[in-house]
Amino acid sequence: MRPLASRMSVMTGEGALSVYGHAKELERQGRSIIHLELGEPDFHPAAPVNEALKLAIDQGKDRYCAIAGVPALREALAVYLRETRNITISPGSVVIAPGCKIALFMAMMALIDPGDEVLYPDPGFPGYASITLGLGGVAVPFTLAERNQLQPDPDEIAPKITPRTKIIITNSPGNPTGTVYADQVQRHIAELAVKHDLLVLSDEIYARIIYGGTYHSMLSYRGMPARTVLLDGFSKSFAMTGWRLGYAVAPAHIVEALELLVMNTYTSVAEFSQYGAIEALRDREGATDRMVGEFAKRREQFISDLNRVPGFRCLPPEGAFYAWVNIEDTGLSSEELCRIMLEEAGVAAIPGAAFGEAGTHFVRFSFASSMVTLKEAVERIQRVATAWQHAPVSR
Ligand SMILES: Cc1ncc(COP(=O)(O)O)c(C=O)c1O
Repeated sequence: MRPLASRMSVMTGEGALSVYGHAKELERQGRSIIHLELGEPDFHPAAPVNEALKLAIDQGKDRYCAIAGVPALREALAVYLRETRNITISPGSVVIAPGCKIALFMAMMALIDPGDEVLYPDPGFPGYASITLGLGGVAVPFTLAERNQLQPDPDEIAPKITPRTKIIITNSPGNPTGTVYADQVQRHIAELAVKHDLLVLSDEIYARIIYGGTYHSMLSYRGMPARTVLLDGFSKSFAMTGWRLGYAVAPAHIVEALELLVMNTYTSVAEFSQYGAIEALRDREGATDRMVGEFAKRREQFISDLNRVPGFRCLPPEGAFYAWVNIEDTGLSSEELCRIMLEEAGVAAIPGAAFGEAGTHFVRFSFASSMVTLKEAVERIQRVATAWQHAPVSR
């Protein structure tokens, strides 16, 4: 048999999805599992969103449609981004994709040549390094360290920029740390991008899920509209993970490249779901704020409960819905700890190394589950904590 393309051996999967597979297998064997591994809100879209989708189907909006997305959705996104992110973009700069991930993939496909260097956050979303490597690029991590409150450090990034550097990927609020990049950090990154003529891929999928302060999009900094691809979607802010809807906002020449990629792949996103998405953006019932309000309560409770588990240490995240817990003081590796939590306590979480080397002593829990579920998860963990509480420290 002929071998697979060599890129397949350098790309990686996602820790969340493999832990989910294992947890599901245990469930099939009759075990009770609390799923805190997936980044999926336990909410569903507001009723008017579903109604708009149904109406669109009834009206026959089930055809191939505009490559970059239906004009009404691209217009609605321009309004939405002005109202929620204070940025001015033209509807023509939007390309709708079946998920933020696909928008990210296409942007990287359009921009990365073999040998190009891509700076990305570590710990970070696994696709950043995986896709870079798959395209023959060089993935260069910058660290989100606890000593910097999990913020990127522009003084670490600057010396990593070489003549081969083409892209900086930013992700605020970030997965898995929940870091909302500080204004001065983003400004500094923007200045570096302008100085070295770099492109910025700004993954803003969690932009609406913040617990205070004002959100600043990378697009709002001087010189950035010409060199930024903003990536976002409906999965997190509107609890529409299964709808598979995302988008990119990009300068004109990149929009053209993305359209070419759309033509070569999915042709257009399902027309009816785009009409549902327009209704989601209108958000007449304030569904997003209500969901984020609920996440805020869970965050408060869950983080304080986790900090009471022996050997766990966790800063409250400023955004997204993940607890990023330093488990070094348990004396266990995060893989061993997650194995014990899953197999003995029935709590699924992800070893931090799945998000990069800097995640080695961490574990990620999603708190997009009900308060009752989160409380039970911590009780279960407390019950098995004796496994590490009295273990000799192996550091
Ligand atoms: C940082 C980040 N970007 C992108 C995505 C993918 O979003 P979508 O469901 O729109 O493909 C995720 C999902 O977990 C994410 O955490």
